[in-house]
Amino acid sequence: MEQTLSLTVLSLSISAALAAWLAPKARRRLMLSRAKHRSLTGHSKMAKRIAGWLPGYRLQEDAFYGADGADDTLQATRREAMDRLSKHFRQRVPHGAHLTQEAKQFLADLDFTGRYRVPFQFTETLAQAIHTSSFISRTSGAVIEDVDGNRYFDVSGSYGVNVLGYEAYKACMEEAVLRAGELGPVLGAYHPVVLENARRVADIAGLDQVSFHMSGTEAVMQAVRLARYHTGRRHLVRFCGAYHGWWEDVQPGPGNPLPPRETYTLQDMSDRSLDVLRSHRNIACVLVNPLQALHPNSAAPGDSSLVDSSRKASYDRAAYTRWLHKLREVCTERSIVLIFDEVFLGFRLAPGGAQAYFGVKADMVTYGKTLGGGFPVGVVCGKANLMRRYRPERPADICFARGTFNSHPYVMAAMKAFLDRLDEPQTRALYDRLEERWNGRCSDLNHRLQSEGLPVRVANMSTVWTFLYERPSRFNWMFQFYLRKHGLWLSWVGSGRMIFSLDYSDSDFAQVADRVVAAAQEMQADGWWSGPALSNREIKRRVFREMFNR
Ligand SMILES: Cc1ncc(COP(=O)(O)O)c(C=O)c1O
Repeated sequence: MEQTLSLTVLSLSISAALAAWLAPKARRRLMLSRAKHRSLTGHSKMAKRIAGWLPGYRLQEDAFYGADGADDTLQATRREAMDRLSKHFRQRVPHGAHLTQEAKQFLADLDFTGRYRVPFQFTETLAQAIHTSSFISRTSGAVIEDVDGNRYFDVSGSYGVNVLGYEAYKACMEEAVLRAGELGPVLGAYHPVVLENARRVADIAGLDQVSFHMSGTEAVMQAVRLARYHTGRRHLVRFCGAYHGWWEDVQPGPGNPLPPRETYTLQDMSDRSLDVLRSHRNIACVLVNPLQALHPNSAAPGDSSLVDSSRKASYDRAAYTRWLHKLREVCTERSIVLIFDEVFLGFRLAPGGAQAYFGVKADMVTYGKTLGGGFPVGVVCGKANLMRRYRPERPADICFARGTFNSHPYVMAAMKAFLDRLDEPQTRALYDRLEERWNGRCSDLNHRLQSEGLPVRVANMSTVWTFLYERPSRFNWMFQFYLRKHGLWLSWVGSGRMIFSLDYSDSDFAQVADRVVAAAQEMQADGWWSGPALSNREIKRRVFREMFNR
């Protein structure tokens, strides 16, 4: 009896101890799930699983034109419009379209981007009708010329590289060849500009040390690796929807066959995420891509995911600044390394980058793209204690990072040319009232679109813009082809992004605005925004039915 009693007491105390041990763990787990964004982007494992299940299918001719339930007359209007577009591209870009078709056989990247310009259901039927060109030959100011001699305003921004205008980069690249030409491709030892660049970039970032790499992805990898090394913690926190390159640990959802195990994807601009940072002891660093301020918790808006009109974007500088301050505070409190990933936005918002623009200091900053002066680059800046790759007291415990081409003389010389330019008065003038200028251009264009009765709008974060659609439609992605027809050169993500260089004059911009309006008018007249009034939810249901009821 006594023995049974003591056994019961023992088992009760074990359960109590277990519960006491598990309770904080369970609480942290719960906190973590509450800090996930409700969308699939916030649930990367689920998103990956669903991506693996989704069956591929193609909307054949009739289903294509009537995907929203349009009647025969409207379908015929759209068919005629497609024939006109098809003829336009056949006549205007014969050489470029031929090269593009051929290159798709050899260039895996073009094969991929070519397919993913529009939602997959429409890809193949569209590919038979429209053959655009991906081959270009020269730039002049904001204008890009294709291999058939057609001229377009470039709003692709070369993935964000083009901040100062193409002429500036051409000059930087020429200067680089002159300056480093005598040295050639010698690596390992440094051209003297490397020291100058390191000093100046550290000064701009307000941090101690710098390392040079070959791409933004590499810079992010190295920043995270160092944060892990110095904190002795494993997990990195990124925010829902944010892009940080294509390295495994920063890409937990579809697109990466090997899901990372040590990445927490949390809700952007949410106190619940701050709670996670406060309560978890295993977090080495927080990665912030400030571009997310334009579309918090959503991935970069590409047209391949434009199945309806629910794309949203709006930028609230004050709210995002408050958020960054809160993050800074928690990271300091918990000794978590705060990394600003400025690969995209560095030098675009302000000469001092996002840190200067938002008035918040990070522990580490990554740069890339434009800082290479037209050549490929990635840069990590950080406090000396975080940048050090060794421990004097444990000499075998190092944090290794190399890269054959790091500090390449041409890249470094072009970076110097870029940094020199950044200090010139005419470059500084580009930043004067920058935001005001671009916000004004955005709201003027929106007024125009509204007064013309067109269901398209634009949203911006300074010179980074996106198109939004007012009327639920299954065909918004067609807009990219009208924009191209009217002389605007977008990147493969289509109407999800327009990236302007800072040197766009009022007259350049006025021409862009005219072209946007003309493209939207033609698209509207061609019937892609007419037809049965469906809600976004009804469109999604329709797509779902198509997928599973074939
Ligand atoms: C914020 C951010 N980080 C990292 C990267 C990756 O840079 P890269 O394409 O040079 O590897 C990008 C690229 O778009 C980016 O926008």
